Amino acid sequence: MSPTAKGLILLCRPGFEAECAAEAEAIARHAGLQGRARTAPNAGSVHFVCDELFDWKLVLEATPFSAFVFARQRSVWVDRVADMPQEDRATPLVEAIAALEVQIGRVEVETADTNEAKTLSGFLKRFIPHIERALVSRRILRDKPDLPTLHLFFKDSSQADLGLSRPGDASPWNMGIARLRMPRNAPSRSTLKLAEAFDALMTEEERAQSLKPGLYAVDLGAAPGGWSYQFSERGMHVYAVDNGPLADSLVAAGMVEHVRADGFSWRSPRKQVEWLVCDMVEQPARIAQLVSDWVASGKAKRCIFNLKLPMKKRFEELKRCRQVIDARFKLHGDSYVLRIKHLYHDREEVTAYLAKLPAPPVETPKMSRR
Ligand SMILES: C[S@@+](CC[C@H](N)C(=O)[O-])C[C@H]1O[C@@H](n2cnc3c(N)ncnc32)[C@H](O)[C@@H]1O
Repeated sequence: MSPTAKGLILLCRPGFEAECAAEAEAIARHAGLQGRARTAPNAGSVHFVCDELFDWKLVLEATPFSAFVFARQRSVWVDRVADMPQEDRATPLVEAIAALEVQIGRVEVETADTNEAKTLSGFLKRFIPHIERALVSRRILRDKPDLPTLHLFFKDSSQADLGLSRPGDASPWNMGIARLRMPRNAPSRSTLKLAEAFDALMTEEERAQSLKPGLYAVDLGAAPGGWSYQFSERGMHVYAVDNGPLADSLVAAGMVEHVRADGFSWRSPRKQVEWLVCDMVEQPARIAQLVSDWVASGKAKRCIFNLKLPMKKRFEELKRCRQVIDARFKLHGDSYVLRIKHLYHDREEVTAYLAKLPAPPVETPKMSRR
C-alpha cells in the first residue's frame, strides 16, 4: 500500500510564513484539496494539513514544486515520529520509514532555517549516518537516482516529520538553500542572486541556448555591476543602464557598456537582445509592466527580474504583478512562461523568469488536385 498524505511540509525564509501559508492554501484549493496551513511567526516552515486522506503521489502531482513561490522546498508529509526516546531515537524512526513501504533513492535531512534549529546540526551529523546505514541494510535506501527522496524534517532532536518528493519536482538543494561561491572579481554579492536564478528558474536547455558568448544583454539598474558580471564572464555583451557608478574592473574587461540613463525610458540600439535583466528598486507593478513590454514586443527574448515586495500584502502584490503581465501578453494573444521564486539570496523581493513562447505553427491547408 502506498502511504497516505497528511499534507505538505514547506520550508521558507523566516518571516515569510504568512505568504507561504496563503500560497499553499491557494494551490491546494486550486487542486481540489481541502485543508489548512499551520505555522508560527518566524518558524521558517509551514505544514499544510489535508482534511481528507489521499495517496501521497496524487498530492505530489497536484502541488508541483514549480507552483510555489515562497516555499524553498516542499515534500508530501506522510508521517510524524514524535517523542523519540533519548536512549534510542533510531529504532522508532527507522521503523516508521520502513512502514511506509517505499524504496527511496536519497535522504534529505531538514530543519527550519533558524538559529534555534541550527543548534541541531551537531546532533544530526552524528545521528543520520546510523539511519542511512540501517535503511541501506534493509534495502529501503537504494542507489537508484530516480526513486523518491525521503525528507526528514526535524523540529528538535525528539521529533521528525517524514516527507516524500520526486527528483525533478523539488529544489535540487538541501532545504532549498543554494550555497553558491562568491566569484572573486564580482562587483557585488547581488551577483549570486542572478547565478541562483539561472539555476532555479531555467531548464538546462534554456541555459545552453541563452548563456553563450556573443549574445547581447540589457541590465536595467545595473550598478555596481553584479548582474552584468554574470553575462560578461560568459563572453556576452552588456548594456548596463544606471546613473550610478559601475565597478571599474567590469568596464575595463571590455564587454560592458555603461549607459547613464533612466531604465524606464532608455531604448536599446538593437532590434532584439537575448536578455533583459532588471534589478531596479521600484514599485513591483511598474517593473512588471516594463519587463512584459520588452518581452511581449520581442525587444528581449527573455528576462529575469526582481520584484521588491512591500512588507504588507506581499502575496496580493505578487498576484497583481501576474495580472499586469498576463494582460500585456493577452493584448496580442501571445503565450508566455513565467516562473517566480523567493530565492535563497532574495530578501524582501522575489525573482522571476519571463519568456515569450513561440506561436504554434500555422497549418496551411494542403491543395488537393481535383
Ligand atoms: C539593487 S541595485 C542593483 C544591483 C545590481 N543588480 C548588481 O548586481 O550590482 C539597484 C540599482 O537600480 C538603479 N536604479 C533605480 N532606479 C533606476 C532607474 N529608473 N533607471 C536606472 N537605474 C535605476 C539604482 O541606481 C541602483 O544602482
